[in-house]
Amino acid sequence: MELLSGREVEAMRRAGAVAAATLERVGRALRPGMRARDIDELVRVDTEARGARPAQLGYHGFPATVCVSIDDVACHGIPGDQVLEPGSVVSVDVTSELDGWHGDTCRTFVIGEPSAEARHVVEVARRCMEAGIAQVRHGARLGDVGYAVETLAKAEGCDVVRMVGGHGIGRKMHQAPHVDHFGTRGRGVRLREGMALTVEPIIVLGSPELTEDDDGWTLRTPDGSLAAQFEHTLLVTRRGAEILTLPATRAGAA
Ligand code: MF3
Ligand code: CO
Ligand code: CO
Repeated sequence: MELLSGREVEAMRRAGAVAAATLERVGRALRPGMRARDIDELVRVDTEARGARPAQLGYHGFPATVCVSIDDVACHGIPGDQVLEPGSVVSVDVTSELDGWHGDTCRTFVIGEPSAEARHVVEVARRCMEAGIAQVRHGARLGDVGYAVETLAKAEGCDVVRMVGGHGIGRKMHQAPHVDHFGTRGRGVRLREGMALTVEPIIVLGSPELTEDDDGWTLRTPDGSLAAQFEHTLLVTRRGAEILTLPATRAGAA
C-alpha cells in the first residue's frame, strides 16, 4: 500500500481540489430539463480548463467523463439522453487526474423539491459517509470505518450496498486497499499516516443487491427503489482524515 511523501501529498491536494471544484461547478449548473450528457460535457470542459484529465473516460472502457446515476441507478450510470426532472435524485461522481495523481468525489443532488424518501436517503448517505470519515485516523482499522457506516444506515432504516466499495487512490484511481462500507470494529487493514483512500457508501431504501444493465456498467436497485452516494478522497493523518476533495467554498468546514 502506497504511503505518500510530503511532496506527493501536495500533488494529491491539487488533484483533489480539481475534482471538488468540478463537482461544485456541476452542482451549480443542475436544473430541470438538463440532460445527463450535458453534465458529461460540462465535466469534460471544466476538467480540461483546470489542466486535468477526466480519469473515468476510457477506464476499463467506460464511455464518459463522469458517472451520472439517476433515481434507482446506484452508481456507474452512463450519461446520455436521460432528462433531469423535478424530484430526480442524481448522483454525480467525478474523478480527475492532475499530473499523474487522482481525486475522486461524488455527491447526490435532488432536482427541485425532494420527496420525503429522497430527502431521507440522501441525508442518510451523506451522514454515513461522514460517520465513516470520522473513523479514519492513523492506527484505526478499516473495519471501524465499515462498522460506523453500516450501523448508521441500519439505524435509519436504510441499507448499504456491499458490491461496491471505496479504495486506495493515488497514482491510480483504484488501488489497494479495498474499503468495505460494512464490517467489524477492530478488524481489517490498519490505517497508516500517509495513506490516501476514499469513503463512498451507496445507501438504499430497499434491497442492497444491484443488477447490471446490458450496457455492462449501470448498476441499479432490483426493486426500483432510490439510492444515494457521497464520496470524498481522504488522507490518513495522526489527527484524523484530511479531506482532499472539499470544495474551496467549504475548505476548513467539517
Ligand atoms: N469514481 C468511481 C469510484 O468512485 C469509479 C467509477 S469507474 C468508471 O470508484 F469507470 F465507472 F468510471
Ligand atoms: Co471512488
Ligand atoms: Co468516485
